[in-house]
Amino acid sequence: MAILTIILLVSTAFALGDTMIRPKTPCEVARDAVPHGLVGAYIPTCDAAGQYTPEQCWGSTGYCWCVNSSGQKIPGTESPPGTVRINCSTQNGMIRPKTPCEIARENALKNVRPGVYVPTCDNDGQYKPEQCSGSTGYCWCVNSSGQKIPGTESPPGTVRINCSTKWK
Ligand SMILES: *[C@@H]1O[C@H](CO)[C@@H](O)[C@H](O)[C@H]1NC(C)=O
Ligand SMILES: *[C@@H]1O[C@H](CO)[C@@H](O)[C@H](O)[C@H]1NC(C)=O
Ligand SMILES: *[C@@H]1O[C@H](CO)[C@@H](O)[C@H](O)[C@H]1NC(C)=O
Ligand SMILES: *[C@@H]1O[C@H](CO)[C@@H](O)[C@H](O)[C@H]1NC(C)=O
Repeated sequence: MAILTIILLVSTAFALGDTMIRPKTPCEVARDAVPHGLVGAYIPTCDAAGQYTPEQCWGSTGYCWCVNSSGQKIPGTESPPGTVRINCSTQNGMIRPKTPCEIARENALKNVRPGVYVPTCDNDGQYKPEQCSGSTGYCWCVNSSGQKIPGTESPPGTVRINCSTKWK
């Protein structure tokens, strides 16, 4: 009996030694505290080391935002669903604020109705040189401020001006 106990203890010790044991991080504690199957809950995302990933998303609403290492939302980083998401990876600790194009796009998407033009932004948040209205099919070229360049509008079904070559 005593020998069996010792064997059990020894094998338990080995099993523990084989698995990486580290205490749960605050992110993991918060994540694991959300009851399984709780619909609509925000579940924190942790990386392999248990740290909060810079971008957190609320699955049920589609909202995403950036957090600091404590998992606290960084003000002004929230992106509603369907809008361009802020790149939460910090460069010198700085998160790029939303650009005028991204703000205009977000405002247009908040108020989607026929005839409302939704600006298109590139990955850096700048206005794409060609903008189109989904509802009318018209396309036109814009300058870096997003203002239409006169004479560049193409009605739907016509040959479009190449906004990259003509206006760069
Ligand atoms: C994260 O943000 C919260 C709220 O702004 C702040 O209290 C906390 O000190 C920040 N943590 C770090 C590690 O920057
Ligand atoms: C975010 O920015 C970082 C640093 O500039 C870059 O390496 C990364 O590719 C960007 N991620 C996305 C999704 O644009
Ligand atoms: C874009 O066009 C508008 C209207 O023509 C003009 O007021 C603005 O200065 C232009 N912006 C740039 C960066 O060229
Ligand atoms: C527009 O011109 C650029 C530069 O010459 C070219 O790379 C691009 O393929 C053209 N785009 C279209 C849609 O023709």
